[in-house]
Amino acid sequence: MSAITINTTKPNHFITTADYSAEQLLDLVDRAIKFKVESKYNYPEARTERPLVGKTVGLIFSKRSTRTRVATETAVGYLGGNAMFLGGQDIQLGVNESLYDTTHVVSSMVDAIMARVGGHDEIETLAKESAVPIINALSEKYHPTQILADLMTLHEYYHAKQNNVPAGVYSAHTQHPRETLKGLKVAWVGDANNILQEILVAFPKCGISVSAACPAGYVCDQDVIDIAQADAKKTGATVVFTTSPEEAVKDCDVIVTDTWVSMGQEEEKKKRIAEFAGFQVTSDLAKRGNAKSDWIFMHCLPRKPEEVDDEVFYSERSLVFPEAENRKWTILAIIDALLVRGGI
Ligand code: CP
Ligand code: NVA
Repeated sequence: MSAITINTTKPNHFITTADYSAEQLLDLVDRAIKFKVESKYNYPEARTERPLVGKTVGLIFSKRSTRTRVATETAVGYLGGNAMFLGGQDIQLGVNESLYDTTHVVSSMVDAIMARVGGHDEIETLAKESAVPIINALSEKYHPTQILADLMTLHEYYHAKQNNVPAGVYSAHTQHPRETLKGLKVAWVGDANNILQEILVAFPKCGISVSAACPAGYVCDQDVIDIAQADAKKTGATVVFTTSPEEAVKDCDVIVTDTWVSMGQEEEKKKRIAEFAGFQVTSDLAKRGNAKSDWIFMHCLPRKPEEVDDEVFYSERSLVFPEAENRKWTILAIIDALLVRGGI
């Protein structure tokens, strides 16, 4: 009788894009686009492989979510697996049970965990204690699956623009994103939060420059700034911080923002709205600051009107809805990499 061997290999996780090279991230984007084409444009009925049959991805979410939850549940279903939502109101975590105990219990029964947490130390505890891959579905420090979708959205847009692709023709899969993104300049106008921090550890290493305007007193973590500057040095991108939205948008291709009041900061709402005066993204700001005439707009959503007016948000410049949809294809590529291919 042959002995039973127990797999003790450490699981692969997706905690922040800082852990991966530009080539690894852009290959994930490339695969996300192939999933999108397969599912939407070419032969939606052709997928017969269901590699996650019999497997379960647990979604431990201690905060609300629309996009990340829908993207993950539909992505797991697409691959034939079962997504199990474990919301803060449903499980014992935080009320009757510690994160350490919860991680050991849940990871003994599922094949991967997507987790939306508070402090970044919580996602690190999950990654340390889990027997299965952990995907960060948002922590106070980072939001990696969002920024992978942003890279995909930028690639789709600039592929079409650079190749003069007529409207209605989807051909972003004919070019690798390493060829379309280098040299772009992204301006951030908003809070020094998880979205900006993830942009800083992902974009400069892909050759994308970042100029970030945050109000005085709102600053990113020093380790994030150090990573961004070291990556920029290698690729020739630039990383600049300012308190002036006009200075940040000068010559930019893309303006990005997010809520001024992240989940968990609701008590600071009044103070923050006062301190972010002058930071609303508008056409007038882009004009005053001399953004490129063909600048585009992105936002991870959900959006409130104080950070971007309706005129920009619902304009032709705005990529917010394709950006939201691309959460599905990029999360699909991450789950496929971790659970089917054996790593990113
Ligand atoms: N952008 C994003 O993560 O949205 P949800 O909070 O709805 O998941
Ligand atoms: N900065 C926001 C992002 C939501 C997707 C938050 O943390 O609430």
